[in-house]
Amino acid sequence: MSKTPSPITKAVIPAAGLGTRFLPVTKATPKEMLPVVDKPAIQYVVEEAVAAGMADILMVTGRNKRALEDHFDRNHELEEALTRRGDQDKLDSVCASTELADIHYVRQRDPLGLGHAVLCAAPHVGDEPFAVLLADDLIDPRDPLLARMTEVRERHGGSVVALMEVGPDRIHQYGCAAVRHLAGSDGVRVTDLVEKPAPGTAPSNLAVIGRYLLDPEIFDELRRTRPGRGGEIQLTDALRGLVERGRPVHGVVFGGRRYDTGDRAEYLQATVRLACEREDLGPGFRSWLRDFVGAQELVGV
Ligand code: G1P
Repeated sequence: MSKTPSPITKAVIPAAGLGTRFLPVTKATPKEMLPVVDKPAIQYVVEEAVAAGMADILMVTGRNKRALEDHFDRNHELEEALTRRGDQDKLDSVCASTELADIHYVRQRDPLGLGHAVLCAAPHVGDEPFAVLLADDLIDPRDPLLARMTEVRERHGGSVVALMEVGPDRIHQYGCAAVRHLAGSDGVRVTDLVEKPAPGTAPSNLAVIGRYLLDPEIFDELRRTRPGRGGEIQLTDALRGLVERGRPVHGVVFGGRRYDTGDRAEYLQATVRLACEREDLGPGFRSWLRDFVGAQELVGV
């Protein structure tokens, strides 16, 4: 590539899903607001975008998502109460989410799929490349993924998706990419994509995970994309459309720590791991956990 593509400063976070995997708690609480230790899951995702230089965030929300807006907005009453009490640490933690980024909201009025949610971002994004971060995917901040994706984009151009190797028993839960290796590069070239392939038909063991750097041409492709799996407009199908028309789509294979916080078991794992690693909670929690696991083993659980 002769010309370095312009840096990405806008990130889109689709957050309109119903969170059915987590019912009943998600009946009245957005799944993105579930705490991972003491911060809502979505705050980790916003922090990840900001750390990668994307401080203009658009959340695509839906019904029942008021709590998201409240969390990233000021709460004067609470701030005043904490100031009166002189509780600076708590005050800092309350203000952190407000000062983190420039957050905008758009509503996805009809639940027509992830591709449709991304298309709702078109007026805000305009004719610029942008990132999409799925709020269910929590990437450990010590394993930077967006930075690697940015490098691949700067070197090879086009759109870039994050990929992860998964077992054959799990690939049907994801978008799946067939790829070709690029000599001397961290990235791969995507040659085909299938959204949630039927068991036994996946073109590879590489799952698309929820981080995308997209060229604005994706919007036209999404407008052309017909409903696919589940009767929904799929982002994977639009990316496949780009691949079929010879447009560059690359991938980065991620081997770091990633938690699907929309899955109950992985959500618990994320909470335990991050709690163990916290300076304030970690020492006490780790020692309790050791005793707890030891006691479980003794009684043969
Ligand atoms: C979405 C995408 C899928 C991707 C997955 C990653 O699916 O459609 O391609 O692999 O996120 O988490 P969802 O999990 O929303 O059904």
